[in-house]
Amino acid sequence: MNIGITYNLKDDVSPGAILDNEFCEEFDTGGTIDALIHVFEKNGHNSVKLGSGIKIVDKIRSEKVDFVFNIAEGYSGRNRESGIPSILEMINVPYSGSDPLTLGMTLDKIVAKKIASQAGIPTPRYKVVKSIDELPSVENKLWYPLIVKPAWEGSSKGIYNSSRVSTNAELKESVGLLLGRYRNQPVLIEEYIEGREITVGVIGNARPQIIGTMEIMNKADFSEDFFYSLEVKRDWKNLVSYVSPPRLNPILERAIRHCAISAFKEFGCRDVARIDFRVSKHGRIFMLEVNPLPGLSPEYADLVIMAKKNGIQYNELVSAILNHALSRYEKSGSVAKTI
Ligand SMILES: Nc1ncnc2c1ncn2[C@@H]1O[C@H](COP(=O)(O)OP(=O)(O)O)[C@@H](O)[C@H]1O
Ligand SMILES: [Mg+2]
Repeated sequence: MNIGITYNLKDDVSPGAILDNEFCEEFDTGGTIDALIHVFEKNGHNSVKLGSGIKIVDKIRSEKVDFVFNIAEGYSGRNRESGIPSILEMINVPYSGSDPLTLGMTLDKIVAKKIASQAGIPTPRYKVVKSIDELPSVENKLWYPLIVKPAWEGSSKGIYNSSRVSTNAELKESVGLLLGRYRNQPVLIEEYIEGREITVGVIGNARPQIIGTMEIMNKADFSEDFFYSLEVKRDWKNLVSYVSPPRLNPILERAIRHCAISAFKEFGCRDVARIDFRVSKHGRIFMLEVNPLPGLSPEYADLVIMAKKNGIQYNELVSAILNHALSRYEKSGSVAKTI
């Protein structure tokens, strides 16, 4: 089979200036694409690098692509992850991962919180502001500390060490910073959950399976409160310890796993997702977000680190995602494409 790969590369945006540029934080490196190609070749497939954008349509046709493995994050707006899957649906080409609606409703954290709460999946209490003038209506409604984040970013974009705030003055400063940096994007203000950070990897479809649960901790001091800010994510080698399986009491672990599977199903995820949680000091679980397009870097992606710690090598993980995607189309009898 000819497998096309859709992606956005950091290098395509700002060669040489990657670390200073938050804009391309979500994008992949050439190393990830090479690693995927290696796996597809091992499975007996040819690979075609498609990149992203409307040009993929001609390339799919000229290179006779049968199936697309999609890891494209898109460039801007809350529908950016939905763009490539929408094009592929329009031209009737099968692809891996979730559909445009799931990608859209999970990327917008405000929409996602509403759906989660409807489904009985707890998330931190929150308010949304679109301007500084709205802050007085928030200040007495939520309990400090709070965390301030952009409504529809990922990879900790816009979430800095200074984003956890404890006073009205700090709140105003952080909200002002995001309104300036992420223009036309609401700011999500959430109660900060002091406690532990757990992420859960799920693969499959009709009967989704958990491939692992992992605690993300401060490397220097396990007991110190930790959050996965942009600065920390970028310096993960020095600052972060990944513990999988985490030391969790079995009842708590079962509850987190149950929430992860419920979220996967409720949001209509397909093939793979990673779901982020906080556990408060009192043992309450809060879902932070659903990631239906989790990073697949062989080096630093949380899902890949977690899989390895659970005995699942990169090759097996990517092959499993691919095979779940292919079997969806085989079941519906529509692998053959018609452009
Ligand atoms: N309400 C919260 N309480 C505590 N930590 C939080 C909260 N919201 C976000 N964080 C921290 O910020 C990180 C990134 O936030 P998240 O909502 O998962 O956004 P992203 O899409 O950028 O990963 C989380 O992994 C967590 O460490
Ligand atoms: Mg996250």
